[in-house]
Amino acid sequence: METASVSQRRVTMDEITALAKRRGFVFQSSEIYGGINGFWDYGPLGAILKRNVKNAWWRDTVELRDDVVGFDSSIIMHPLAWKASGHVDAFHDVLVDCKVCKHRFRLDHLKDAAACPDCGSKNSFTEPRAFNLMMKTYVGPMDDTSSAAYLRPETAQGIFVNFKNVYQSARRKPPFGIAQIGKSFRNEITPGNFIYRVREFEQAELEYFVPDDGRDVEVFHEWVERRKAWYANYGISPERLRFYELTPEERPHYAKAGVDVEYLFPWGWGELESIAHRGTYDLDAHMKLSGKDLRFFDEAAKTHYTPLLIESSAGMDRTTLTFLVDAYDRETSSDPNGKETERTVLRFHPRIAPVQAAVFSLARNKPELVERARAIEQALRGEWRTQYDEGNIGQLYRRQDEIGTPYCVTIDYETLADGSVTVRSRDSMLQERVSGDRLGAHLKERLERNA
Ligand code: GAP
Repeated sequence: METASVSQRRVTMDEITALAKRRGFVFQSSEIYGGINGFWDYGPLGAILKRNVKNAWWRDTVELRDDVVGFDSSIIMHPLAWKASGHVDAFHDVLVDCKVCKHRFRLDHLKDAAACPDCGSKNSFTEPRAFNLMMKTYVGPMDDTSSAAYLRPETAQGIFVNFKNVYQSARRKPPFGIAQIGKSFRNEITPGNFIYRVREFEQAELEYFVPDDGRDVEVFHEWVERRKAWYANYGISPERLRFYELTPEERPHYAKAGVDVEYLFPWGWGELESIAHRGTYDLDAHMKLSGKDLRFFDEAAKTHYTPLLIESSAGMDRTTLTFLVDAYDRETSSDPNGKETERTVLRFHPRIAPVQAAVFSLARNKPELVERARAIEQALRGEWRTQYDEGNIGQLYRRQDEIGTPYCVTIDYETLADGSVTVRSRDSMLQERVSGDRLGAHLKERLERNA
């Protein structure tokens, strides 16, 4: 039996990127053509990981509440929606180009605005230019300005323009929320840090509408607490997570409160989510430009009013990266003869892990073992995300550790004799012999312990 000794060191982005590729979590988009900057593909395990992250958000934000409804709006909206929202006029980054090495930088990312960080040249930058981050496309057969449209840079506007449709059809009155998860696009000047800053990404956004009855700031803080609890529930290390309260100077003029959720990534703190009190800004802007009344009609009081808005907006790619980075561990273990080996292990929460239980046949050339192992894996499949594999058990454990599988079940000759199996825990590396009729309950107790 292997025993674990503690040897924790934090991971580098190179290690994360290499593991993500090796094990099929994330690949560079269009890699065979040299890739395209700011775009990534999720491989077989990454697709499940990201889906689990989104499901965990959706479960907590929509399904477990009776005051939030789900939504799914189109990526391309009427261009005037982006005029009203302020994105056409103000969704800019300021960039400069180095005239020597030709590299481009965001002015606000430069430590020294007079020296190029790539080639070291002094005073080599062009004049700063504002650069709109929205991606343009054309709708219909004409590719001229009359058919120009934008790929949405946030999902929220689809919710705002539908506020009245939703509250009327779903028979809701404030306080209530509308949530959606979907793709957003931003023509980032400097995409980077793997899937952290990308040009195509997914957002999970909650827009919570409240009456102006003096409880709005309290509700804002309730959502901050709810989001804190969500990260804690899924095991994100509290010492690497912080909730930064924006000062009045840092907040937009209409906002009464704002909190950025930040994670300590290998390169430093980075924003994961923003929680904002947006007042009536968004509904007012759409009412003004569209000329349509989006106010809520309070039947009891027979009055119209514009609700205040609390927003929580989390990037699902950044959250997926957070789960990968936070789960990553390297550990030294020794076998009974004292021989030391190192392993890489992703300590995912059981609900986030792409595979929850792997089932192995001790040998691949013994049909009776293979058949039994496959049957057990199929039986567990109804309840858990499982995977069948066969061969060298030590190597199979290493592989499952690297993809974060909490439990491995091995079928051997004893199984054929008495039905018992070996269950090995990812975290403790302890192995237990479990009778066949207890296997389902054994896994359930462990996989649901923290769930
Ligand atoms: N509706 C509010 C909104 O979009 P934001 O702070 O611009 O606010 C919210 O974005 C979240 O979306 C960010 O905290 C981040 O997680 C994610 N996000 C924004 N730009 C991103 C990018 N280029 N790549 C990956 N995620 C991004």
